[in-house]
Amino acid sequence: MTPIEILTALGMSEGRADPYPLYAALHEIGPVIEVGPGDIIVVGYDAINSVLRDPGFRVSDESNFERDLPSWRANPVFVQVADWILNLNAPRHSRIRSLIARAFTARRVAGLEPAIAKMAGELLDAMADRGADGSAVEFMHDFAYLLPVTVICELIGIPEADREGFRPIARDLVGIFELRDLEALPKINAAAVELLAYFTGLAASRRANPRDDLLSDLLAISDRDDGTLTDAELLHNLTLLLVAGFETTTNLLGNGLQIILQDPPAGQAVRDGSVPVSAFVEEVLRFDSPVQLTSRVGYDTTLGGVAIRPGTGLATLLGAGNRDPRRFTDPARFDPMRNDGGPLSFGGGAHFCIGAALARLEAAVAFPRLLSRFPKISAAGQPTRRDTLLLRGFDQLPVTLI
Ligand code: HEM
Repeated sequence: MTPIEILTALGMSEGRADPYPLYAALHEIGPVIEVGPGDIIVVGYDAINSVLRDPGFRVSDESNFERDLPSWRANPVFVQVADWILNLNAPRHSRIRSLIARAFTARRVAGLEPAIAKMAGELLDAMADRGADGSAVEFMHDFAYLLPVTVICELIGIPEADREGFRPIARDLVGIFELRDLEALPKINAAAVELLAYFTGLAASRRANPRDDLLSDLLAISDRDDGTLTDAELLHNLTLLLVAGFETTTNLLGNGLQIILQDPPAGQAVRDGSVPVSAFVEEVLRFDSPVQLTSRVGYDTTLGGVAIRPGTGLATLLGAGNRDPRRFTDPARFDPMRNDGGPLSFGGGAHFCIGAALARLEAAVAFPRLLSRFPKISAAGQPTRRDTLLLRGFDQLPVTLI
C-alpha cells in the first residue's frame, strides 16, 4: 500500500476500528513519511519523541485559526480554545502552564486517592445492583464515563449538586477535538457558552469564600500574581481541564477492560497481584492509546532524513509510535512485564499531559477494585467503538458481572 492509500484507509470507519495493521504498514515505509507537499506523518517512536521535545515545532495556535477559519472569533468555542495551553506556544504557553502547574500539584492529585476510591466503590455498588440478576450492565456509561468526570469535578471544586447537569455539556464540548464538519459547531458553541457562564459564577463564589480545591488555588495564585493570568485565561483553561480530563481517562478504563475481557488471564494477573496494576496500566496505554495522535507545525529542519519546511503540517501518530517494532519487541503482543520503554500516550516535552498522574491514579484505583469485586466479569454481546481516530475508545462495552 502507498502512504496515501494507508491514510485513506485510516480515514474510513473500518480503518479507525482497527488502525494497527495500517500503522504496521506505515512502519515498513519509514519513521517519517512525506505524504504530499507540506504534509508529513511521523510514526517512529524516536522521531515522534524528538518532534514533541523540540520547541522549534509549534502547536497550531491563533494564527492558524486566523488562516483556516477567518470567522473563528464569532464562535465562542474557538475564543476559549485559542487560550487553551494545548494551543499556545512559548512564551504564553510557559506563563500560563506554570501558573496552572503551581495549583495542579502532585500533592493535590495524590490527595484525591481516597475520594477516587470512594467514588469507584459507589459506582461498583450501583453496577452490582443493576447486574445482580445476571443482566448486562453497560460499563462505559455506568463506570468508565462517570468516574473520570466526577473526579475532575471533585478536583476543580464543582459542588456535587451541580455535577449531574454538567456531564452532557462537557461531553458536547469534547466534540471540538474531532470536529469533522461545521454543522456540529452550534451545539459545541452552546456548551462552551454554558460552561463559561457556570465557571464565571463559581469563580466569583470561590473568590469570596475560598475552599480546598483547584479553582480556589488558581484564583489565589492569579490574584497574587496581579494580572499575569487573566480571568479569561483562567476560566478558559478550566474548560480545557474538564474536557481533556475525562473522555481520555474514560477510554483508558474502557480500552483496559476490553483487553481483560478478551484475555482473562491478564485480568487474573492484576487481581492476584502477580502483575502490578501500574505495569498493567502502562501497557494498556501503549497497546491501545486513548489519544492516537497530535500535531505540530514545522520549521526549517530535517527529520529522519526528510526535509521539513516552515509551515509544514506534521501529524505525530502516538498510537503508531507505541507499536514501533524498532522500539518494542513484538509490539502487537500485550505484555505488562515488558521493559522496552514507556508509551507516548501522554505526549512529551513542553505540552506533556498535565493530568498524566491523575489518569494513572484513577486507573490504578479502578482496575483492582473492579476485578476483585466482579471476578466473573465477562463480555455480554458486541462492544461498539466510537468512530473516531484521535480519541480511541468505546461507546458501549456491555458486561455481565456474575
Ligand atoms: C489517559 C488519559 C489521558 C491521556 C491519554 C492524555 C493525553 C494527552 C496528550 C497526548 C497530551 C499532549 C498533546 C500534545 O502534545 O499536543 C495531553 C495534554 C494535556 N492533558 Fe492529557 N491526557 C489524559 C488525561 C488527562 C487528564 C486527567 C487531564 C486533566 C485533569 C489532562 C489534561 C491535559 C492538559 C491540560 C493538556 C495540555 C498540556 C499543555 O499543552 O501544556 N489530561 N494529554
